[in-house]
Amino acid sequence: MKQSILPSVFLGILACWGVLPVTAEDRYQYFTWEITNGTIYPLGVPQQGILINGQFPGPTVEAITNDNILVNVINKLDEKFLITWSGIKQRRTSWQDGVLGTNCPIPPKSNWTYKFQVKDQIGTYTYFPSTKIHKAAGGFGGFNVAQRSVISIPYPAPDGEFTLLIGDWYKTNHKVLRRLLDAGRSLPYPDALLINGQKDAAVFTGEAGKTYKFRVSNVGMSTSFNFRIQGHLLKIIEVEGSHTIQESYDSLDVHVGQSVTVLVTLSGSISDYIIVASSRFTDPIVLTTTATLRYSGSNSKAQIPLPSGPATNDVEWSIKQARTIRLNLTANAARPNPQGSFHYGTIPVQRTLVLANSKAIINGKLRYAVNGISHINPNTPLKLADWFNIPGVFDLNTIKDVPSPQGTPAKLGTSVIGFTLHDFAEIIFQNNENYTQSWHMDGSSFYVVGYGNGLWIPDSRKTYNLVDGMTRHTVQVYPNSWSAILVSLDNKGMWNLRSAIWPQRYLGQELYLRVWNNEQSVYTETLLPPNALFCGKAKHLPKS
Ligand SMILES: *[C@@H]1O[C@H](CO)[C@@H](O)[C@H](O)[C@H]1NC(C)=O
Ligand SMILES: *[C@@H]1O[C@H](CO)[C@@H](O)[C@H](O)[C@H]1NC(C)=O
Ligand SMILES: *[C@@H]1O[C@H](CO)[C@@H](O)[C@H](O)[C@H]1NC(C)=O
Ligand SMILES: *[C@@H]1O[C@H](CO)[C@@H](O)[C@H](O)[C@H]1NC(C)=O
Repeated sequence: MKQSILPSVFLGILACWGVLPVTAEDRYQYFTWEITNGTIYPLGVPQQGILINGQFPGPTVEAITNDNILVNVINKLDEKFLITWSGIKQRRTSWQDGVLGTNCPIPPKSNWTYKFQVKDQIGTYTYFPSTKIHKAAGGFGGFNVAQRSVISIPYPAPDGEFTLLIGDWYKTNHKVLRRLLDAGRSLPYPDALLINGQKDAAVFTGEAGKTYKFRVSNVGMSTSFNFRIQGHLLKIIEVEGSHTIQESYDSLDVHVGQSVTVLVTLSGSISDYIIVASSRFTDPIVLTTTATLRYSGSNSKAQIPLPSGPATNDVEWSIKQARTIRLNLTANAARPNPQGSFHYGTIPVQRTLVLANSKAIINGKLRYAVNGISHINPNTPLKLADWFNIPGVFDLNTIKDVPSPQGTPAKLGTSVIGFTLHDFAEIIFQNNENYTQSWHMDGSSFYVVGYGNGLWIPDSRKTYNLVDGMTRHTVQVYPNSWSAILVSLDNKGMWNLRSAIWPQRYLGQELYLRVWNNEQSVYTETLLPPNALFCGKAKHLPKS
């Protein structure tokens, strides 16, 4: 339909140019973001924060499926800086992903323009700084993608929407936190949870009888939270870009790096109601923060008691809830075809990875590892090394597909796993530690097929949900448990697979998936962007 409005002569010209005609009529949105250092008071005491155009949190990007987004990031900090777009799939271009494996960081006092398309996506996403623990100081924001007008969504259009960025927070300066980690020490416990940069202060106002979309994301460093609204049910509609079976919950767990979208109908009497987020699995300490859902015209304070959530350390409750969140097979997402038309459960798996996370002491310092390798980012982005065939930056044999035998000491290394474009893979995240992990994949969404206790064994496959498992970009892994995903690696590039638990990732719990084939074509991967920054061993390469 959208191509039929273009005269075929015009399409013919585009074809001769060799550009992809699909982008011809898609909207362009231009942003200029000044990244500065400023004083913020989220907990009532002054601290240095990272602001975007003077804002903490940063501005919310409101996009429509297929928009072309250009963000000129002007770095006015005294440190190098990078932003990553969490869940934005960056089709055919890992050049814009904003992580150290794909991009040289933007030096202080300079700027760099990201350019990407939110192709075939719809839903609630976020962006945040990807390096140097900057995330602990701000620089994050919401990234919402609405459907195109020709696409139907499986729920009535809401009367309004709210974006809620919730996460744990430290009063301590991010540079101090970084020094602790650099010295091989662990971080103290966070001081609080914030909702949109505030503790116990944010207000969301709506009209009685109307229905609102709440986009809720965990933008924190390491803490899962439970989210609930006094006297109101949360009807889940979307998780990280896919439409769910619409069920109503009293409260929902949201793990680090994840997003959920719910509908809330203001069916109570005109009043204020309390919105609560409280930390999960952190007993005996429970961090709680509140916000207010205010009905227009309300002049009464919220009633007590506050709504209570599940017991802080009740992991089983969380696993049970996670299993109920499923894909609506008949609904469409960003494209008109039903989500269930891709029968992921019938596709033969070509390769299985079992990735076990562990804590390690290397050279006398605390590190975190995956399959015995604690990842180090080389000065040369892996993607540049790959593109220019620069030797000595990484090899595909450092990290193995399965955990190292027990007792093998972990070591430092650069972890890249090689896949062939279109490989269909099974990945098991094995968490043998006693905190809740969270794993995020850039470049693709995956099907979450199972959560289980203890060690994964091949027989665990019998418990997989091969029909309507949720597609998402970040999956939690419970303490001493495993989570399994299936993924079709259809996006050529160098993609970050990382722990979203930020200190763990900073100290080595990440790796890259190199999705590759030998065909050189802009239909599978775009060329190096003309403005690409060069650093490390690529520093003196001629541009073009
Ligand atoms: C923020 O400003 C303070 C005071 O000028 C400075 O010490 C600090 O290094 C700055 N931080 C960043 C990330 O630019
Ligand atoms: C830096 O910003 C200027 C405009 O202020 C723009 O013309 C230029 O393209 C930007 N540079 C990069 C590398 O994006
Ligand atoms: C699934 O999506 C369809 C739209 O195709 C919608 O009508 C239906 O209500 C949804 N089912 C559930 C259980 O959410
Ligand atoms: C996890 O284990 C460590 C020791 O290995 C212990 O200090 C810590 O209290 C445990 N945490 C939880 C939540 O059980």
